[in-house]
Amino acid sequence: MVGPAERRAESHPVTADPTGTDPAALIAAQRQHWETTLQANPQMYGTEPSAPGRHAASRFATDGLTRVLELGAGQGRDTLALLGAGLEVTALDYTSAPLAGIRDAASDGGLAARLTTLVHDVRQPLPFTDASFDACYSHMLFTMALTSDELANLASEVHRVLRPGGLCIYTVRHVGDAHYGAGRDLGDNLYENGGFVVHFFDRPLLHRLAEGFELQDVTAFEEGGLPRRLWRITMRRP
Ligand SMILES: C[S@@+](CC[C@H](N)C(=O)[O-])C[C@H]1O[C@@H](n2cnc3c(N)ncnc32)[C@H](O)[C@@H]1O
Repeated sequence: MVGPAERRAESHPVTADPTGTDPAALIAAQRQHWETTLQANPQMYGTEPSAPGRHAASRFATDGLTRVLELGAGQGRDTLALLGAGLEVTALDYTSAPLAGIRDAASDGGLAARLTTLVHDVRQPLPFTDASFDACYSHMLFTMALTSDELANLASEVHRVLRPGGLCIYTVRHVGDAHYGAGRDLGDNLYENGGFVVHFFDRPLLHRLAEGFELQDVTAFEEGGLPRRLWRITMRRP
Protein backbone atom coordinates (compact mmCIF):
# COMPACT_ATOMS: atom_id res chain seq x y z
CA MET A 1 0.00 0.00 0.00
CA VAL A 2 1.28 3.42 -0.94
CA GLY A 3 0.00 6.56 0.77
CA PRO A 4 -1.72 9.57 -0.81
CA ALA A 5 1.23 11.94 -0.30
CA GLU A 6 3.49 9.77 -2.41
CA ARG A 7 0.85 9.58 -5.13
CA ARG A 8 0.54 13.39 -5.02
CA ALA A 9 4.32 13.80 -5.33
CA GLU A 10 4.41 11.40 -8.26
CA SER A 11 1.53 12.97 -10.16
CA HIS A 12 2.13 16.63 -9.30
CA PRO A 13 1.80 18.75 -12.44
CA VAL A 14 5.13 20.14 -13.55
CA THR A 15 5.54 23.91 -13.78
CA ALA A 16 8.56 26.04 -14.54
CA ASP A 17 8.67 27.76 -11.14
CA PRO A 18 5.82 26.60 -8.92
CA THR A 19 6.83 28.45 -5.77
CA GLY A 20 9.14 31.29 -6.68
CA THR A 21 11.02 30.32 -3.53
CA ASP A 22 14.72 31.00 -3.22
CA PRO A 23 16.54 27.63 -3.83
CA ALA A 24 18.52 27.85 -0.57
CA ALA A 25 15.32 28.52 1.40
CA LEU A 26 13.61 25.65 -0.37
CA ILE A 27 16.42 23.26 0.57
CA ALA A 28 16.51 24.56 4.17
CA ALA A 29 12.75 23.93 4.46
CA GLN A 30 13.02 20.27 3.43
CA ARG A 31 13.48 18.95 6.96
CA GLN A 32 10.20 20.48 8.16
CA HIS A 33 8.55 19.40 4.91
CA TRP A 34 9.53 15.77 5.53
CA GLU A 35 8.54 15.92 9.23
CA THR A 36 5.08 17.29 8.32
CA THR A 37 4.56 14.98 5.34
CA LEU A 38 5.55 11.81 7.18
CA GLN A 39 3.40 12.68 10.20
CA ALA A 40 0.39 13.37 7.95
CA ASN A 41 0.94 10.14 6.01
CA PRO A 42 1.85 7.37 8.48
CA GLN A 43 2.27 4.80 5.68
CA MET A 44 3.73 7.01 2.99
CA TYR A 45 5.80 4.23 1.41
CA GLY A 46 3.61 1.38 2.62
CA THR A 47 4.21 -1.19 5.29
CA GLU A 48 5.98 -3.85 3.25
CA PRO A 49 9.77 -3.81 2.93
CA SER A 50 11.13 -2.40 -0.33
CA ALA A 51 12.91 -4.63 -2.85
CA PRO A 52 16.35 -3.15 -1.97
CA GLY A 53 15.49 -3.50 1.73
CA ARG A 54 14.80 -7.21 1.32
CA HIS A 55 17.94 -7.57 -0.79
CA ALA A 56 20.15 -5.78 1.76
CA ALA A 57 18.73 -7.72 4.73
CA SER A 58 19.43 -11.00 2.97
CA ARG A 59 22.91 -9.99 1.74
CA PHE A 60 24.03 -8.62 5.14
CA ALA A 61 22.74 -11.71 7.01
CA THR A 62 24.38 -14.08 4.50
CA ASP A 63 27.70 -12.21 4.73
CA GLY A 64 27.60 -12.16 8.55
CA LEU A 65 27.43 -8.33 8.67
CA THR A 66 25.46 -7.68 11.85
CA ARG A 67 25.96 -4.04 12.89
CA VAL A 68 23.98 -2.02 10.34
CA LEU A 69 23.65 1.75 10.00
CA GLU A 70 20.50 2.80 8.14
CA LEU A 71 20.52 6.36 6.78
CA GLY A 72 17.16 8.08 6.11
CA ALA A 73 15.07 5.35 7.73
CA GLY A 74 11.82 7.30 7.28
CA GLN A 75 8.90 5.30 8.68
CA GLY A 76 10.98 2.15 8.94
CA ARG A 77 9.56 -0.23 6.36
CA ASP A 78 13.12 -1.51 5.75
CA THR A 79 14.33 -1.06 9.33
CA LEU A 80 11.89 -3.75 10.42
CA ALA A 81 13.08 -6.06 7.63
CA LEU A 82 16.69 -5.61 8.71
CA LEU A 83 15.74 -6.29 12.34
CA GLY A 84 13.66 -9.28 11.22
CA ALA A 85 16.78 -10.73 9.58
CA GLY A 86 18.46 -10.75 13.01
CA LEU A 87 20.62 -7.66 12.45
CA GLU A 88 21.48 -4.86 14.92
CA VAL A 89 20.21 -1.64 13.40
CA THR A 90 20.99 2.00 14.09
CA ALA A 91 18.22 3.87 12.24
CA LEU A 92 19.02 7.51 11.53
CA ASP A 93 16.82 10.27 10.10
CA TYR A 94 16.42 14.01 10.60
CA THR A 95 12.73 13.61 11.41
CA SER A 96 11.93 12.57 14.97
CA ALA A 97 8.26 11.47 15.05
CA PRO A 98 8.72 8.72 12.41
CA LEU A 99 11.68 7.33 14.38
CA ALA A 100 9.42 7.07 17.44
CA GLY A 101 6.97 5.15 15.26
CA ILE A 102 9.75 2.73 14.27
CA ARG A 103 10.58 2.15 17.95
CA ASP A 104 6.92 1.39 18.70
CA ALA A 105 6.65 -1.04 15.77
CA ALA A 106 9.89 -2.76 16.79
CA SER A 107 8.61 -3.10 20.37
CA ASP A 108 5.35 -4.59 19.12
CA GLY A 109 7.35 -7.13 17.12
CA GLY A 110 9.72 -7.98 19.98
CA LEU A 111 12.65 -6.51 17.99
CA ALA A 112 13.45 -3.38 20.01
CA ALA A 113 16.51 -4.80 21.78
CA ARG A 114 18.51 -4.68 18.53
CA LEU A 115 17.32 -1.18 17.51
CA THR A 116 18.89 2.21 18.14
CA THR A 117 17.33 5.36 16.66
CA LEU A 118 19.03 8.68 16.15
CA VAL A 119 17.83 12.09 14.97
CA HIS A 120 20.66 13.48 12.85
CA ASP A 121 21.17 15.54 9.69
CA VAL A 122 23.59 13.74 7.35
CA ARG A 123 24.98 17.10 6.18
CA GLN A 124 26.83 17.00 9.51
CA PRO A 125 29.59 14.46 10.29
CA LEU A 126 28.21 11.10 11.41
CA PRO A 127 28.32 10.88 15.25
CA PHE A 128 30.00 7.47 15.37
CA THR A 129 33.53 6.29 15.97
CA ASP A 130 35.66 4.87 13.16
CA ALA A 131 34.87 1.33 11.97
CA SER A 132 31.82 0.99 14.23
CA PHE A 133 29.53 -0.67 11.63
CA ASP A 134 29.71 -3.76 9.41
CA ALA A 135 27.26 -2.38 6.88
CA CYS A 136 25.38 0.73 5.81
CA TYR A 137 21.99 0.69 4.10
CA SER A 138 20.11 3.64 2.68
CA HIS A 139 17.02 3.71 0.45
CA MET A 140 16.54 7.11 -1.22
CA LEU A 141 18.47 9.24 1.29
CA PHE A 142 21.41 10.02 -1.00
CA THR A 143 18.87 11.23 -3.58
CA MET A 144 17.48 13.93 -1.26
CA ALA A 145 18.28 17.68 -1.11
CA LEU A 146 22.04 17.19 -0.82
CA THR A 147 24.60 18.85 -3.08
CA SER A 148 27.30 16.79 -4.79
CA ASP A 149 29.88 18.07 -2.31
CA GLU A 150 27.64 17.18 0.65
CA LEU A 151 27.16 13.71 -0.85
CA ALA A 152 30.91 13.27 -1.27
CA ASN A 153 31.39 14.22 2.40
CA LEU A 154 28.66 11.77 3.40
CA ALA A 155 30.24 8.94 1.39
CA SER A 156 33.55 9.69 3.06
CA GLU A 157 31.84 9.55 6.47
CA VAL A 158 30.23 6.21 5.59
CA HIS A 159 33.70 4.94 4.59
CA ARG A 160 35.07 6.08 7.96
CA VAL A 161 32.38 4.45 10.12
CA LEU A 162 32.44 1.15 8.19
CA ARG A 163 35.01 -1.41 9.22
CA PRO A 164 37.39 -2.70 6.52
CA GLY A 165 35.40 -5.28 4.54
CA GLY A 166 32.16 -3.48 5.39
CA LEU A 167 29.43 -3.07 2.78
CA CYS A 168 27.38 -0.04 1.75
CA ILE A 169 24.14 -0.56 -0.21
CA TYR A 170 22.30 2.61 -1.19
CA THR A 171 19.68 3.64 -3.74
CA VAL A 172 19.16 6.82 -5.73
CA ARG A 173 16.89 8.15 -8.45
CA HIS A 174 18.87 8.74 -11.63
CA VAL A 175 18.88 10.84 -14.77
CA GLY A 176 16.68 8.28 -16.55
CA ASP A 177 13.82 9.05 -14.12
CA ALA A 178 10.61 10.57 -15.54
CA HIS A 179 10.94 13.54 -13.16
CA TYR A 180 14.53 14.34 -14.17
CA GLY A 181 14.57 17.81 -15.67
CA ALA A 182 10.99 18.51 -14.58
CA GLY A 183 9.92 21.09 -12.00
CA ARG A 184 12.16 23.79 -10.57
CA ASP A 185 15.85 23.48 -11.52
CA LEU A 186 18.00 24.19 -8.44
CA GLY A 187 21.32 23.38 -10.17
CA ASP A 188 23.67 20.42 -9.55
CA ASN A 189 20.97 18.00 -10.84
CA LEU A 190 18.66 18.99 -7.96
CA TYR A 191 15.02 19.55 -8.92
CA GLU A 192 12.00 20.53 -6.85
CA ASN A 193 8.72 18.93 -7.80
CA GLY A 194 5.56 18.91 -5.70
CA GLY A 195 7.49 20.37 -2.75
CA PHE A 196 10.12 17.60 -2.68
CA VAL A 197 13.72 18.27 -3.70
CA VAL A 198 15.43 15.35 -5.43
CA HIS A 199 19.06 14.90 -6.52
CA PHE A 200 19.11 12.84 -9.72
CA PHE A 201 22.35 10.86 -10.00
CA ASP A 202 24.48 10.44 -13.10
CA ARG A 203 27.35 7.97 -13.52
CA PRO A 204 30.15 10.48 -12.72
CA LEU A 205 28.53 11.26 -9.35
CA LEU A 206 28.17 7.63 -8.31
CA HIS A 207 31.83 7.03 -9.29
CA ARG A 208 32.87 10.11 -7.29
CA LEU A 209 31.08 8.70 -4.22
CA ALA A 210 32.76 5.31 -4.75
CA GLU A 211 36.25 6.78 -4.27
CA GLY A 212 38.07 4.67 -1.66
CA PHE A 213 35.49 1.89 -2.05
CA GLU A 214 35.39 -1.11 -4.33
CA LEU A 215 32.29 -0.51 -6.51
CA GLN A 216 30.71 -3.96 -6.68
CA ASP A 217 27.42 -3.47 -8.44
CA VAL A 218 24.96 -0.97 -9.92
CA THR A 219 21.48 -2.44 -10.53
CA ALA A 220 18.63 -0.48 -12.11
CA PHE A 221 15.14 -1.00 -10.72
CA GLU A 222 11.79 0.77 -10.52
CA GLU A 223 9.52 1.56 -7.58
CA GLY A 224 6.07 3.11 -7.15
CA GLY A 225 3.45 4.22 -9.62
CA LEU A 226 5.41 6.92 -11.51
CA PRO A 227 7.51 4.74 -11.54
CA ARG A 228 10.60 6.14 -9.87
CA ARG A 229 13.68 4.89 -11.72
CA LEU A 230 16.51 4.06 -9.36
CA TRP A 231 19.93 2.51 -9.06
CA ARG A 232 20.86 0.18 -6.23
CA ILE A 233 24.57 0.67 -5.64
CA THR A 234 26.78 -1.72 -3.70
CA MET A 235 30.23 -0.64 -2.51
CA ARG A 236 32.70 -2.41 -0.25
CA ARG A 237 35.29 -0.75 1.96
CA PRO A 238 38.55 -2.60 1.11
C1 LIG B 1 12.44 9.28 0.35
S1 LIG B 1 12.38 9.12 2.08
C2 LIG B 1 12.85 7.40 2.24
C3 LIG B 1 12.51 6.78 3.58
C4 LIG B 1 12.83 5.31 3.73
N1 LIG B 1 14.23 5.03 3.48
C5 LIG B 1 11.96 4.47 2.82
O1 LIG B 1 12.42 4.14 1.71
O2 LIG B 1 10.83 4.21 3.20
C6 LIG B 1 13.86 9.99 2.56
C7 LIG B 1 14.11 10.09 4.04
O3 LIG B 1 15.35 10.78 4.21
C8 LIG B 1 15.21 11.70 5.28
N2 LIG B 1 16.21 12.77 5.05
C9 LIG B 1 16.23 13.65 4.01
N3 LIG B 1 17.28 14.47 4.12
C10 LIG B 1 17.94 14.12 5.25
C11 LIG B 1 19.11 14.61 5.91
N4 LIG B 1 19.80 15.66 5.41
N5 LIG B 1 19.52 14.00 7.04
C12 LIG B 1 18.83 12.95 7.54
N6 LIG B 1 17.69 12.45 6.99
C13 LIG B 1 17.25 13.03 5.85
C14 LIG B 1 13.77 12.15 5.23
O4 LIG B 1 13.33 12.65 6.47
C15 LIG B 1 13.05 10.86 4.81
O5 LIG B 1 12.66 10.11 5.95
